[in-house]
Amino acid sequence: MNALAARGLAFAYPDGTAALDGIDLTIEAGQRVAILGPNGAGKSTLLSLLAGLREPAGGEVSYFETDKAADELRDRIAHCPQAPADYLFNATVREDLEYGPAQLGIDRSEAEGRVDDLAAAFALDGLLDKPPFRLSGGEQRRAALAAALAVDPDLLLLDEPVADVDAGHRETILDALDARNEAGTTIVVSTPDADLVPRIADRVVLLDRAGTIVRDGPVRDVLTDGDLLREVGVSPPQLVEAFQRAGLDDPPLTVADAADRLRDRDER
Ligand SMILES: Nc1ncnc2c1ncn2[C@@H]1O[C@H](COP(=O)(O)OP(=O)(O)OP(=O)(O)O)[C@@H](O)[C@H]1O
Ligand SMILES: [Mg+2]
Repeated sequence: MNALAARGLAFAYPDGTAALDGIDLTIEAGQRVAILGPNGAGKSTLLSLLAGLREPAGGEVSYFETDKAADELRDRIAHCPQAPADYLFNATVREDLEYGPAQLGIDRSEAEGRVDDLAAAFALDGLLDKPPFRLSGGEQRRAALAAALAVDPDLLLLDEPVADVDAGHRETILDALDARNEAGTTIVVSTPDADLVPRIADRVVLLDRAGTIVRDGPVRDVLTDGDLLREVGVSPPQLVEAFQRAGLDDPPLTVADAADRLRDRDER
């Protein structure tokens, strides 16, 4: 089943900035997809269009092979914006986490259970009774992601989900997203950081500065094409760059793979 299918999506902002053009994108249920591109490529614009938060100037998006619009699917689609504070508007973090389930009429004890689970998964214990504006940037990020997951969506659209997060909490977030994906949730993330992609996605959609898709494929195929990435304005992953500069084939995408490769060479 498709989680979403976009055809010919185009969008221009009121000041005339053409942000996206001719976007064709089909994402199957259960996939983990990264939207990769430089600043200004249109990643955030694309995620907001896919979330139904903006009207496209052209084209259309369908979800779960139905003819329902995104706003009829608030129980199945969640979008977390690039600025997490935009997603936190209640008096406390706990209320922000309870907000989505309450809007959907979810039973209170069920909602409380979800908040407890999310607080544990996103390391929010001790922060639940604070006003969101008194959290640090990285704490706001975790709170906003937890709030997005509180509706238990089938499709998660996350705009730079680990920007401004320290290494330890990055793993916390990525583990929580992996657990959701293993339970069947489709996850689409945006990032300008090719180094993050192998940890968070299996497929990469590469956007250029003109807001068009220049490549869409498995992580390895896209991330090992250093020339294309540089042309678009994205730095290739550091491991890929190091192995390619050293003239070694088949560059590793993870530190564990790189360590294996180096050990194998030493032993030879
Ligand atoms: N509200 C707005 N009004 C006018 N132009 C905008 C607006 N928001 C974004 N843009 C423009 O649309 C284009 C795409 O912006 P978008 O925020 O989608 O890029 P992005 O890929 O998410 O970039 P970043 O990596 O910096 O988050 C850019 O040229 C940007 O200047
Ligand atoms: Mg953005």
